[in-house]
Amino acid sequence: MPLELIQGDIAAQNTDAVVTAANKELAGGGGVDGVIHRAAGPELLRAIRAIGGTPTGTAVITPAFGLSAQGVKYVIHAVGPIWRGGQMGEAELLAGAYRSGLQLAAAHGCRSVAFPAISTGVYGYPLDRAADVALSAAQAFLTDHPEMLVRFVLFDSGSLNVFRRALERLQG
Ligand code: APR
Repeated sequence: MPLELIQGDIAAQNTDAVVTAANKELAGGGGVDGVIHRAAGPELLRAIRAIGGTPTGTAVITPAFGLSAQGVKYVIHAVGPIWRGGQMGEAELLAGAYRSGLQLAAAHGCRSVAFPAISTGVYGYPLDRAADVALSAAQAFLTDHPEMLVRFVLFDSGSLNVFRRALERLQG
C-alpha cells in the first residue's frame, strides 16, 4: 500500500508536494511552518499573504520556491483545528485538512505528498487521536488514488511509534 510512515524532517523531503501545518490567516508561523518557510525562502510567505487566508479544515497550494532545488513542486498549506477537548468538531476539521491537502496534490498532478502530524504541536491535538484521523483520511483517499504515495513524516521516534500503532489498529 502506498502509505509510508517515517521519522524525519518534513523540509528534507523530495516528494512532489510537502504539506505544512498552517494557520487560517496564512500568516506564517513556527514549528513545521517555520521550518518549511526557512527552506522555501521569503517568496513563500508573499505567496500565502496574497491568498490571504483559508478556513480551518481546508488547505491551499503554492509553488515550492526554494524547495524546488530538492525536487518539491508544491507546498500545501493545510489548516488543522486547535484542540478544544474533542467536542468542537475537531476530528472532522482535521480530516478535512488532510482531505483537502490530498485533493489539491492530486489535482496538480502530484504522485507523492509528505505530511507532518497536523495540529499535534502548538494546536494540542492528542497524537494518538490525530494519527487515527490522519491515517483514515489517507487510506480513504488512496482507495480512489492508488497511484499516489502518501508519506507521513514524524519528527521523533515516539510519534512514529504512535502512528505505527494507529496504522496497525486501522488495518486490523
Ligand atoms: N518535521 C516534521 N514534523 C515536525 C517538524 C519537522 N521539521 N518540526 C515539528 N514537527 C512536528 C511537531 O512535533 C508536531 O507533532 O509537527 C507537528 C505539528 O506541530 P506544529 O508545527 O506546531 O503544527 P500545529 O500543531 O498544526 O500548529 C499550527 O503553529 O506554527 C504555527 O502557523 C502555525 O499557527 C499555526 C500552528
